[in-house]
Amino acid sequence: MRKQLLFPFLFLVYFFLCTKTFAQIAPAPPLRKDNITSILEKGGQFTSFIRLLKATQVADQINNQLSTPDPNDGLTIFAPSDNAFSGLKPGTLNSLSDQEKLQLVQFHILPTLISTSQFQTVSNPLRTQAGDVKGGKFPLNVTALGNQVNITTGVVNATVANTVFSDRRIAVYQVDQVLLPLQIFGPTPAPAPAPAKPEKDVPVSTPKASTGDTDSSGAMRLKFHPNAMVSFGFAFLGLIFWIL
Ligand SMILES: *[C@@H]1O[C@H](CO)[C@@H](O)[C@H](O)[C@H]1NC(C)=O
Ligand SMILES: *[C@@H]1O[C@H](CO)[C@@H](O)[C@H](O)[C@H]1NC(C)=O
Ligand SMILES: *[C@@H]1O[C@H](CO)[C@@H](O)[C@H](O)[C@H]1NC(C)=O
Ligand SMILES: *[C@@H]1O[C@H](CO)[C@@H](O)[C@H](O)[C@H]1NC(C)=O
Repeated sequence: MRKQLLFPFLFLVYFFLCTKTFAQIAPAPPLRKDNITSILEKGGQFTSFIRLLKATQVADQINNQLSTPDPNDGLTIFAPSDNAFSGLKPGTLNSLSDQEKLQLVQFHILPTLISTSQFQTVSNPLRTQAGDVKGGKFPLNVTALGNQVNITTGVVNATVANTVFSDRRIAVYQVDQVLLPLQIFGPTPAPAPAPAKPEKDVPVSTPKASTGDTDSSGAMRLKFHPNAMVSFGFAFLGLIFWIL
């Protein structure tokens, strides 16, 4: 090929790669859009739990926390499957007050991120969003050996069936039983007096100041796209041929 033809050819190649490259680079990478609803919907068998999360507005609180770039402690969620809910005595949920429904949902959420291996070393009882471990009202005990993780609430014994989702902010585990807290479902339920002090002291979203965030998507934006390198290569070659 003659060099007079070579340069326009290389220029075209360069131009093509450039447009392609910029088309790929230009849109900023989408922000992480994980939300608890979409995570559970992908799991495919959590419609009852999703409904409860929405009805109690705990879903919104979780999503608020997920949207803060660098939550300090993360969240662990035990998600009972639809099977687990259908295993409840009929009317169990309907008999609960709104406050009790909220506590039931909060009882399935730990205010820290716990990986499967960490379950072996946690100290019981674990603190849940429902609070009040000391009074023995909402104890949640976990025993783990290898991959097997058992949970007991004093009312039910449950098993972690599998990990639905986990990243550095949130872990979602499927459990085979609805975790019924002692406070609400214990053997001698003192005729459910409306709690004088609503347990609002442990909100799901603790808006702690997120410190120096190194967002991974920000880092990606600065990376050279391989195509860009290729087109620079072509441009350089073109220049050499032109000069020769
Ligand atoms: C959760 O994600 C789904 C799917 O991406 C979206 O349709 C829904 O609006 C999101 N909900 C919230 C509260 O962000
Ligand atoms: C979990 O519970 C089952 C019975 O429900 C028992 O056989 C098993 O040993 C328990 N595992 C752990 C780690 O506690
Ligand atoms: C949970 O563990 C604590 C500490 O080991 C123990 O005192 C308590 O009885 C346990 N509760 C249940 C329901 O297993
Ligand atoms: C849960 O497990 C404990 C110890 O393994 C047992 O004593 C208790 O009866 C079990 N409770 C239920 C509701 O199965």
